[in-house]
Amino acid sequence: MARVKAAVLISGRGSNLKALIDACAAPGFPAEIALVLSNRAEAAGLDYARAAGIAHVVIDHRQFPDREAFDAAIGAAVEAAGAQLICLAGFMRLLGPVFTEQWRDRILNIHPSLLPAFRGLDTHARVLAAGVRFTGCTVHFVRPAMDDGPIIVQAAVPVQPDDDEQRLAQRVLSVEHRIFPLALGWAASGRLRVDGNHVIVDGCQEPEGVFINPAA
Ligand code: GRF
Repeated sequence: MARVKAAVLISGRGSNLKALIDACAAPGFPAEIALVLSNRAEAAGLDYARAAGIAHVVIDHRQFPDREAFDAAIGAAVEAAGAQLICLAGFMRLLGPVFTEQWRDRILNIHPSLLPAFRGLDTHARVLAAGVRFTGCTVHFVRPAMDDGPIIVQAAVPVQPDDDEQRLAQRVLSVEHRIFPLALGWAASGRLRVDGNHVIVDGCQEPEGVFINPAA
């Protein structure tokens, strides 16, 4: 069966990109990565694309007069690669409403919190400051507002009393690396249907859409 082509957009380290590359290497996985796109030439994650022999491109947002022009260049590159899905894996630019509407329900983003709590940057520091007992990560379809859109899958991770930002980030990250491939696999096999704010995962009951990992 032909695999669905995905583009992965990054800005930095690329550990989630690596998790997606590894997942796509498994026989029978329904997606393949056709393009890795970074807005920063120095993004370390580009090395994962190089090592895996995946086409990669740098599109520097600073070269464009405005967001729409940058978004259009991204769209052109993604379409030229034949991608039908876009994964935002630590991509630090907001995509505008024209682009997100054009790619509605075909852009997946990962965020290291249980959305809609703790949208935005410095997530783990704010989680610790708030004293919450659980945090986690979320993969969701993208809407124009930051870290907004219908939730595909979440994983809960307990906050330990002795956690600092780095420890907590690492523990959440290891779970991110599990749920992003899961969500991409569902999307690529056409199992996701969006109904308002809700994402229905076809072929399974609601609990499979909530992936809890208390041992993480
Ligand atoms: C991850 O924590 C992701 O949830 C967030 O940015 C970070 C990217 O990390 N959106 P990496 O580049 O995938 O290692």
